[in-house]
Amino acid sequence: MTEPADGRGALLFSARGVGKAFGPNVLFKDASLDVYTGETLAIIGESGSGKSVFLKMLIGLLETDEGEILFKGDRIGDMDSDGLQKLHRQVGYVFQNDALFDSMPIVENVGYAMREHTNASDEEIRARAKVCIEMVGLKQHVLDLYPASLSGGMRKRAALARAIAIKPEVILYDEPTQGLDPQNITRIAEMIEALQSDLEVTSVVVTHDLRTAFGVSNRIVMLHDQRFQYEGTPEEMMMSSETAVREFIDEAMDELRELFENGSQGSELPTAPEPAPSA
Ligand SMILES: Nc1ncnc2c1ncn2[C@@H]1O[C@H](COP(=O)(O)OP(=O)(O)OP(=O)(O)O)[C@@H](O)[C@H]1O
Ligand SMILES: [Mg+2]
Repeated sequence: MTEPADGRGALLFSARGVGKAFGPNVLFKDASLDVYTGETLAIIGESGSGKSVFLKMLIGLLETDEGEILFKGDRIGDMDSDGLQKLHRQVGYVFQNDALFDSMPIVENVGYAMREHTNASDEEIRARAKVCIEMVGLKQHVLDLYPASLSGGMRKRAALARAIAIKPEVILYDEPTQGLDPQNITRIAEMIEALQSDLEVTSVVVTHDLRTAFGVSNRIVMLHDQRFQYEGTPEEMMMSSETAVREFIDEAMDELRELFENGSQGSELPTAPEPAPSA
């Protein structure tokens, strides 16, 4: 692993010259992106631009057509099933659609990776599931329910609990706050931050939600025109004069405003300048 001298952590993921298309639908062309240990990187970009596909390529669920993606220096494309297992022990993944197993109660869903990758006992799994369920703001009784009897927002949070259960080094979040109400958006954003500061987890967060993208990340990159373009700190991105970035931010601001106006009391809207009261 390379240890850069510029204060960044070691290189964790490195995507180089990646190309990916589904038939005529070209999603990536010579796209490159590095992820460093300890950072929280937010990926923003239009719907349909390929953000979910990119996360799936990072964990070997989808293959690149061109270029390569390395994890700690190893090519993901060259990993056999043992190599991928090892990768999945280190990398937690929150799917955009929660992808819980319908036939298993939540405790088994959350404990799934512990069953797969560790020798944890039933008691240990249940104890860990309890902690994780609490972190995402769900009540303990949820552990014995099946996914079908949970609301969309509860399922989303159960999926988050599942991703953090084995204390992975890296967590990939695909729209972790989609469909949640303002309180839970704040809670999940705080959880992502807490995981980063307490456990030094590296996070990659794909999100449309500005509260999450700008509130929890150290760095934001925008996927645009098949490549990762326009990167910067949240402050730099907020001030960016690039048209694509401005359009994305302005649109997301409108969505956010709408959500908070329709949402419940007690949540703060990050930046909604009050017009000066007319005398
Ligand atoms: N397995 C697949 N086979 C064919 N096309 C696919 C497949 N997976 C994704 N696509 C297509 O790739 C494009 C990008 O999809 P992706 O889900 O990555 O977008 P996204 O940036 O995550 O969008 P959103 O913000 O709406 O979640 C879409 O046009 C989608 O239909
Ligand atoms: Mg997506």
